[in-house]
This record gives sequence, C-alpha cells and structure tokens, in this order.
Amino acid sequence: MKDGSRTRIEPYENRHAESIANDLFGGMSAEEVRQGRDGLIAPGPDEVLSVCALSESKVVGVCTGVRKRWMGERHRIEMVQVVVAEDFQRIGIARFMLKAIAMHFVERGVEMVQVSTEGSNEKAIASYERIGFMEFGVLKRGLKHGNRYADEVMMWMKIEDLLG
Ligand SMILES: CC(C)(COP(=O)(O)OP(=O)(O)OC[C@H]1O[C@@H](n2cnc3c(N)ncnc32)[C@H](O)[C@@H]1OP(=O)(O)O)[C@@H](O)C(=O)NCCC(=O)NCCS
Repeated sequence: MKDGSRTRIEPYENRHAESIANDLFGGMSAEEVRQGRDGLIAPGPDEVLSVCALSESKVVGVCTGVRKRWMGERHRIEMVQVVVAEDFQRIGIARFMLKAIAMHFVERGVEMVQVSTEGSNEKAIASYERIGFMEFGVLKRGLKHGNRYADEVMMWMKIEDLLG
C-alpha cells in the first residue's frame, strides 16, 4: 500500500540526480539535472532549499523554495518545480515537501509562501487550494515554453498556516 508518511525528505544532493532523471523527469539526463540543480542551489541555504522525497532509494518528488532577493520582499519565498511521481500522488508528498521547506525558512524570518502554475493545470491548483493557498492573480501569458505562452495562476499563503 502507498503511504506518504513512508517517504522521507532530504535536501537535494548530487547523488539524487540519477534517480530524478530516471524516475521523475523522463527525457532528461542525470548530467542535465545535476547542472540545473547546481545553478539553482548555488546561492546557498539562506536563499534556496531544494528537497527530494525518497521512497527507499528512489526519488518520488522534488520541490525547491527560493527566497525573494530584493529589499522589501525578503519575507517571501516562492516554491518552484513541485513535482511528484504519478504513482505517488495524492498521499501527501507535496504537502510534506512544502512543509519541510517552510520549516527551514520560517527560522530565517520568512512569513509568506507563493506558488504558481499554468492556468490549465487544474490538478495543481486543486492541490494547492487544499493545502491552503489562495489565488491572488493571473498573469496573462506569464509563462513561455518555447513559442507557447500560457497564463500563470499565482497563489500565496502564510507560512505559519502551512506549518500549522
Ligand atoms: C500538483 C502535485 C505536485 C501535487 O502533489 P501531491 O503529492 O499529489 O499532493 P498531496 O498529496 O500533498 O496533496 C495535497 C492536497 O491536495 C489534494 N489533491 C492532490 N491531488 C489532487 C487532485 N488531483 N484533485 C483534487 N485534490 C487533490 C490532496 O488530497 C491533499 O488534500 P488533503 O490532504 O486535504 O486530502 C502533483 O499532482 C504533481 O506532481 N503534478 C504534476 C506536476 C505539476 O503539475 N506540478 C505543479 C506545477 S508548479
């Protein structure tokens, strides 16, 4: 039986790249994952925390929290690249990873958490709403993949509510 509490959360390390490439991001090489993550986490743990959810040695979820950079917005983080393997969805793994990242940043004075997703991604929007995120805006054509534009739904919640 699948059970979200049987997965464990670990900060991303290079040794996870192989499983992320093979088990989560089909079509990407481990080297591409490694390079992408290295760039993402380079600013250090006060700015970025990237976590993996592991079931035994297999990475079944990833999520990264990125703190806003500029004066006046340092009390906010944004969760990016929230992905859970299809077979492990709906058992609490996204919530578990978001909380682990929130725990890390609340100690650093962060108060608000943001996420965003494509307007057509009903599954992600429903999950984020269940977790407690509220929509605060839609940025028309806010996302661009190749030549394709999509609207970006932006959501937020208080970090203390996420941890609550
Ligand atoms: C969106 C996604 C990350 C959610 O991950 P998850 O691990 O399945 O989410 P959780 O199990 O933590 O669910 C959190 C809450 O949302 C609910 N939920 C999850 N999937 C849902 C769905 N498809 N419809 C309605 N509610 C849903 C859960 O029941 C849970 O609520 P509950 O605790 O009150 O029961 C996952 O579906 C995913 O990886 N999708 C593909 C990638 C993607 O679209 N990522 C987001 C882009 S930013």
